[in-house]
Amino acid sequence: MAAPPHTQDKLPGDFLWGFATASFQIEGSTDADGRGKSIWDDFAKQPGKTLDGRDGDVATDSYRRWQADLDLLVAYGVRSYRFSLAWSRIIPLGGRADPVNEAGIRWYSDFIDALLERGIVPFVTIYHWDLPQALHNRYGGWLNKDEIVQDYVRYSRVCFERFGDRVKHWLTMNEPWCISVLGYGRGVFAPGRSSDRMRSPEGDSSTEPWIAGHSVILAHAHAVQLYRSEFKAAQGGQIGITLNGDWALPYDDSPQNIAAAQHALDVAIGWFADPIYLGYYPAYLHEMLGARLPAFTPEELAVVKGSSDFYGMNTYTTNLCKAGGEDEFQGRAEYTFTRPDGTQLGTQAHCAWLQDYPQGFRELLNYLYKRYRKPIYVTENGFAVKDENSMSIEQALADADRVQYFRGACQSVLAAVREDGVDVRAYFAWSLLDNFEWADGYVTRFGLTYVDYETQERFPKDSAKFVCQWFKEHIEPE
Ligand code: NOJ
Repeated sequence: MAAPPHTQDKLPGDFLWGFATASFQIEGSTDADGRGKSIWDDFAKQPGKTLDGRDGDVATDSYRRWQADLDLLVAYGVRSYRFSLAWSRIIPLGGRADPVNEAGIRWYSDFIDALLERGIVPFVTIYHWDLPQALHNRYGGWLNKDEIVQDYVRYSRVCFERFGDRVKHWLTMNEPWCISVLGYGRGVFAPGRSSDRMRSPEGDSSTEPWIAGHSVILAHAHAVQLYRSEFKAAQGGQIGITLNGDWALPYDDSPQNIAAAQHALDVAIGWFADPIYLGYYPAYLHEMLGARLPAFTPEELAVVKGSSDFYGMNTYTTNLCKAGGEDEFQGRAEYTFTRPDGTQLGTQAHCAWLQDYPQGFRELLNYLYKRYRKPIYVTENGFAVKDENSMSIEQALADADRVQYFRGACQSVLAAVREDGVDVRAYFAWSLLDNFEWADGYVTRFGLTYVDYETQERFPKDSAKFVCQWFKEHIEPE
């Protein structure tokens, strides 16, 4: 009898796995080699913007300690590493007529070479939230569609020209929902805008986040158009976007709660994924926002529709959804982790928004594959153990809750691929290192490697060992 084409308990031989980070969260050295300021530099220094009052000036010092990070990646035996480029290192003032900074280019170029020399595939995010401050000052950053699209496309062109001979996996944007809602709606992330919402006589009826989101979609789509028309044939890479989105379960089986869960998905995911993969904003967004939802011209839509070669997925948790909420950014669903019988959905993480529920991850993979029909790259997934920051290093390294989270997540990927037929091609754990967790400062640790911020020493946690071992055992030989 012929051998089966694959074994049920393994992922395909070309499956990519590794760890993810982002420039502002790890690099530090914010003044080095001609880097311009980003919107996070000063924002993080304002009183009350981060939980511990700390900023990103040092972070994990990875701009200087890149060798230590590479050693870790090699020791872990990863196939790929996802990291982001800091726009303001490459074009310090950000704009299309502003000069390119050769020292910034050189740093990333050397880093990419060093990865390739070690057999590690670079998976590169072009924009992970560190907008050049100069573009915010000049014209309001993501609020000014016409300006930002041109500036972002020129920045992307520089990236393709200078790194595209070696980078074959591009992500245009990281988590547009967070850029738009947390930066321009709730105001908890840079640039910290929420005045629009406060001013509105109807209460929760913001316009800015929807405008910012619209600009992000267009900037992404035009960069992809550029890549496909001028670079793809010669360079042969893939390009797409990465969206955040957590699974939404109805609180119970009442029709209004079933609808609430779908509305939550329509806003968390469909806001960006529907135009990009299907060519229109979800009907529920039109219904909820009316004239506040920006419209695409037919020419714009032609660029937006189909503008991602794959589905880049960042996901962390599952929410139980109840109807009757107010928050438009959740599709007016109320989120809870407490089931009707009073039990919790899963283990609680350090941050309030995250519980461990691996079944939800598998269901979300199925939902996305069925709806958008694209290969899926899981570009982020991870867990912050409760109170890890106040433990001894030894205690923090024994991160049993994080091991359990990754066990469930890895098994969900395998089941989705082998039992459900979902085309998942990559998995990146967030994060290679504990790092600057935005508004949480350094209080919340997502690392699979512990960072002692006094010495900058790195220590593998049990979860890192688990994930590496799991992928070694669960990928077919190529
Ligand atoms: C998503 C973001 O992309 C990343 O920057 C962040 O640290 C993690 N989620 C954890 O919150």
